[in-house]
Amino acid sequence: MDDVTLEGLLEEDRLFAPSTEFVSNALVVDGTFAADADFESFWAAQATELLDWDVDFHTVLEWKHPFAKWFLGGKLNVSYNCLDRHVISGHGDQVAFHWEGEPGDSRVISYTEMLAEVCRTANSLKSLGVEKGDRVAIYMGMVPELAVAMLACARIGAVHSVVFGGFTADSLRARINDAEAKVLITGDGAWRRGGIVELKAIADDAMSGTPAIEKCLVLRRTGHDGVAMIDGRDVWWHDLVPSQSDECVPESMDAEDLLFLLYTSGTTGSPKGIMHTTGGYLTQVAFTHKYVFDLHPETDVFWCTADCGWVTGHSYIVYGPLANRATSVMYEGTPDFPDKDRFWQIIEKYKVTTLYTAPTAIRTFMKWGSEYPAGHDLSSLRLLGSVGEPINPEAWVWYFENIGGSRCPVVDTWWQTETGAIMVSPLPGKTVAKPGSATFPLPGIGADIVGDDGEPVGIPGGGYLVLTHPWPSMLRGVWGDPQRYIDTYWSRFDKKYFAGDGAKRDGEGYFWLLGRVDDIMLVAGHNISTTEVESALVSHPAVAEAAVVGKTHETTGQAIAAFVTLRSGYEASQELVAELRAHVAEQIGPIAKPQSVLFTDDLPKTRSGKIMRRLLRNVAEDESLGDTTTLADPNVVAGIKALYAADATDDDA
Ligand code: WT7
Repeated sequence: MDDVTLEGLLEEDRLFAPSTEFVSNALVVDGTFAADADFESFWAAQATELLDWDVDFHTVLEWKHPFAKWFLGGKLNVSYNCLDRHVISGHGDQVAFHWEGEPGDSRVISYTEMLAEVCRTANSLKSLGVEKGDRVAIYMGMVPELAVAMLACARIGAVHSVVFGGFTADSLRARINDAEAKVLITGDGAWRRGGIVELKAIADDAMSGTPAIEKCLVLRRTGHDGVAMIDGRDVWWHDLVPSQSDECVPESMDAEDLLFLLYTSGTTGSPKGIMHTTGGYLTQVAFTHKYVFDLHPETDVFWCTADCGWVTGHSYIVYGPLANRATSVMYEGTPDFPDKDRFWQIIEKYKVTTLYTAPTAIRTFMKWGSEYPAGHDLSSLRLLGSVGEPINPEAWVWYFENIGGSRCPVVDTWWQTETGAIMVSPLPGKTVAKPGSATFPLPGIGADIVGDDGEPVGIPGGGYLVLTHPWPSMLRGVWGDPQRYIDTYWSRFDKKYFAGDGAKRDGEGYFWLLGRVDDIMLVAGHNISTTEVESALVSHPAVAEAAVVGKTHETTGQAIAAFVTLRSGYEASQELVAELRAHVAEQIGPIAKPQSVLFTDDLPKTRSGKIMRRLLRNVAEDESLGDTTTLADPNVVAGIKALYAADATDDDA
């Protein structure tokens, strides 16, 4: 965005206040948190109230820009805070996880059982030679032992690096090597839509080039034949873990000791090992999980549908919910296996009260049609959450009406792997929501929007989202590359954290996230947000999902190319192309009218569900596709490329 400000064209004036019923029982209502003039004392109070410390901290924050240390002098153990203290306070029988396996098997795991299994696993890791500070890579499907393995590392002060179970051997190898992990924990296989992903075989391929790996612990899940075990290196979980003691003294960790690494690919370059530490991370995930999701631990059943391979799973399946003694659902499979109503069936079965999922899933449910949720009793739900991408206002309203029965507040939560925890979000008993807006920074968080010069753009205004002061769960760096930490996040603007997202604030100060800055389009001198044009398209009744990109145009610099998937019951036609173009012009203005509209069955997405616009740009510019290894399904973009070449309905009218 060279010296032009993001326009912020799309308007939204629908308001959704929480119901009086929700407010009457909410943890946070208007006035609960005092205006946070002093963010350090605010977070100090949260750290003290929400966590059990072995030794109290003496200093809240040491800020040697851009390196932060929180809660100095404090000592605590994360697994103790997530498990032991709940058992000690008499809640050992409470369910920690209702686990639902893909083939329909299930397990109920109490806090007492979780603690015992974590201790046995922690002792197992010790017996494999893992010591405090060592890195342990975890490459598993969504089974309870994945959470157990993470907590077992935390218990003995080892640093985990969870690698998403859908990644290839090359990706796994690169992450193991960057972290120099000593032990890999994996499974024989993982279930995926009725088939088996052979995790151990992939892990073996990866370990063919990982000099630091000494041992590999293997959980039997799929039980298929032919799993090769290498003598001296590989150990079956069931041969080692059950025979260990179920007591393991938790290692008292410094607040700033490393808790985990999590690799994030970003848009360019090799994956970065994002570093998260102990005290600040746990404080902010506990705080946000409690207040953003209005947690009532005695009655709520919380379900975050993410995979533990992403930060959302770390913070809102494992650490936040367990620190707060929540009862959660953990699900192994996909939303469409065996059928497209699996999520709704699970919500009905476990009487889920709080659902946290992603816009990509919501738009997929819209595409499939409302009959799937309508066939189930979803009346247990009382709160809905969204994360991962901007949620288009129409998808927000669909979620609110069809899943939440028009009674559940929706919290649209903006954050990143790097922020560790939620940063910008409604507080559901207090905030009047606008569909598509993440609303306001949470208490204790400083966020603003600046222009190219780094100066705040004011209200209303559009530009870049920045964070203006440190927060407890902020990344502490990029593993092995301090310079990259400085360059990526702290160099674009003086003394402000650059998040990489475009954003605007409307006349009432609401924050609107407008997509990654690399995706923003420049049409005839106007910076136009991909999110806004996509939201305008999605607001048409025929459209389920849309992705737009800028492509070179001789007069306007860039023109907008749109890729659209239709809701079930609608057919692609030239008339619909014209209608959609007119619809966008009407919603946003003629400047944002797509030059071309291509109908497709699917959009290229990363394995975490984000639309990869770079590849669509390659398609629109007729360039080669380059690296497609981060895609969930590389066939999708190949198909779109062929369609696009055959179609070419560009129309400058
Ligand atoms: C990027 C971070 C946060 C955990 C999962 C993703 C986008 C995330 C929202 C939201 C608009 C959002 C941003 C952000 N994003 N949540 N509610 N509204 N955009 O973590 O993979 O590190 O991605 O996801 O672009 O920078 P991540």
